[in-house]
Amino acid sequence: MLSKVKACVLQGLEGCIVEVETDLSSGLPGFNIVGLADTAIKEAKERVRSSIKNSGYRFPVSKITINLAPANLKKEGSQMDLPIAVGVLSASKIIKNQIDDICFIGELSLDGKITKVDGALPLVISLRNFNVRKVIIPIENKEECGVIDNIDIIPVDTLIDLVDYLNEEIEIPPYKSIYMDSLLEHQYEEDFSEIKGQTALKRAVEIAAAGGHNLLMLGPPGSGKTMIAKRIPTILPDLSFEESLEVTNIYSISGETSENGLMKKRPFRSPHHTVSRAALAGGGRTSKPGEVSLSHYGVLFLDEMPEFPKSVLEVLRQPMEDGMISVARANNTYTYPAKFMLIGSMNPCPCGFLGDPKHECSCNQGQINKYLSKISGPLLDRMDIQIEVSPVYYEDLNSKNKEESSKEIKERVLNARHIQSNRYKGSNVYTNSQLTSKQVAKYCKIDSDSEALLKIAFDSLGLSARAYNKILKVARTIADLENSENILQKHIAEAIQYRTLDRKYWR
Ligand SMILES: Nc1ncnc2c1ncn2[C@@H]1O[C@H](COP(=O)(O)OP(=O)(O)OP(=O)(O)O)[C@@H](O)[C@H]1O
Ligand SMILES: [Mg+2]
Ligand SMILES: [Zn+2]
Repeated sequence: MLSKVKACVLQGLEGCIVEVETDLSSGLPGFNIVGLADTAIKEAKERVRSSIKNSGYRFPVSKITINLAPANLKKEGSQMDLPIAVGVLSASKIIKNQIDDICFIGELSLDGKITKVDGALPLVISLRNFNVRKVIIPIENKEECGVIDNIDIIPVDTLIDLVDYLNEEIEIPPYKSIYMDSLLEHQYEEDFSEIKGQTALKRAVEIAAAGGHNLLMLGPPGSGKTMIAKRIPTILPDLSFEESLEVTNIYSISGETSENGLMKKRPFRSPHHTVSRAALAGGGRTSKPGEVSLSHYGVLFLDEMPEFPKSVLEVLRQPMEDGMISVARANNTYTYPAKFMLIGSMNPCPCGFLGDPKHECSCNQGQINKYLSKISGPLLDRMDIQIEVSPVYYEDLNSKNKEESSKEIKERVLNARHIQSNRYKGSNVYTNSQLTSKQVAKYCKIDSDSEALLKIAFDSLGLSARAYNKILKVARTIADLENSENILQKHIAEAIQYRTLDRKYWR
């Protein structure tokens, strides 16, 4: 007996349909899987055999051959358990009905339970795009998959339920997640109002959030750098539905989706400085997305940036330019999105107190130079806004002044974002930080006074061409925050100020 069952495997973020052909023939009993299956799929044999038996069905005593087509496609992932089991049950007539138009996704446990798989959302989206009408998924994946329209999502708990459903002995209605825009609004536990003083730093962070700019904070220990970085997502716009879907896709592949389906918060990732290149960039043995992709549409925070090995930091350069990262895997290359705001923090020297009026720095020049040199010129250049953080003052910590809340700051950020999205309508640019140099020339025109100022700064600070463009982009954002159509000299002056740090420390 021969049966054919539809399955789906991921290649990066895209799903490809795989046909599972099961042949039962007389001959020496055995169970073979052919067609470029990886070890995880070969292990499926044992889970399939046990789950069929433990669900009370007879496991065929025949020669079983499973062929996974197309043969040239590398098949990975535990979601192949279920289609293989369905193939066996269908070839042995335990499943009686036609199942040609259904796709099956699910891992099996030995007792016949259908268990959660990673990457269910991108699989389901791809199937919908291939016009598959119905997909069987594990119950635990139903919230993330239930947001997708135009395909019936049938969540199933056990193999027994599935057989009964396919034989029309029970009914399982298609699952739809309750989705409302308002559900995307997320309440954060932290708030900007908890940060006392630090007006200049807050201003820089607001500009960074408004224009999607990268930010480097340099300052003594305990000055609130980590505290403020954690609160950046609270002043960013809420994720749109499409953005949320993209983010959830990435987390789905990493097996990190939340219980309520879609990811609603902007990601905030803060990998430790011992993170490996593969964990940061993605790829490696599992070809999963790395931290740069897990921060897509959110914040990638590198605390104590010079502690990261230089080779690891250099990984960031490609995604920072392209907004995506290519991950090599066996004979394939996958591309994952990686549009993040990079927020870095560091001390001015190894002991942290260089330039602090109240503490003495105990480092010698050699140690300081070595520490600063961990951040390469090209990486430093990519930090649009660089700001020196002053120590927190006792008067600030103790003051009864009410600090602005995240909500108040967010309103200004939203207004500036709105201006940008109108200006760049129809292009794939959303924030000033994403402008190409050609677009900078078009959208960041300045008057002769500003030009003169910029020339002085350029010569005296010895700025690079990239720094020049960054100043114009940041100035554009500062003007947008003020609803100013033109970039004025004062906007340029403030933007230049955010580029002086490298000249002061890195010379
Ligand atoms: N401006 C501030 N307002 C209120 N509390 C603050 C402020 N700055 C620092 N603190 C307090 O000090 C603690 C340490 O701050 P934080 O960890 O953010 O400093 P940091 O600059 O990251 O230091 P390090 O360089 O050591 O990493 C915070 O948890 C907070 O309780
Ligand atoms: Mg810190
Ligand atoms: Zn020092």
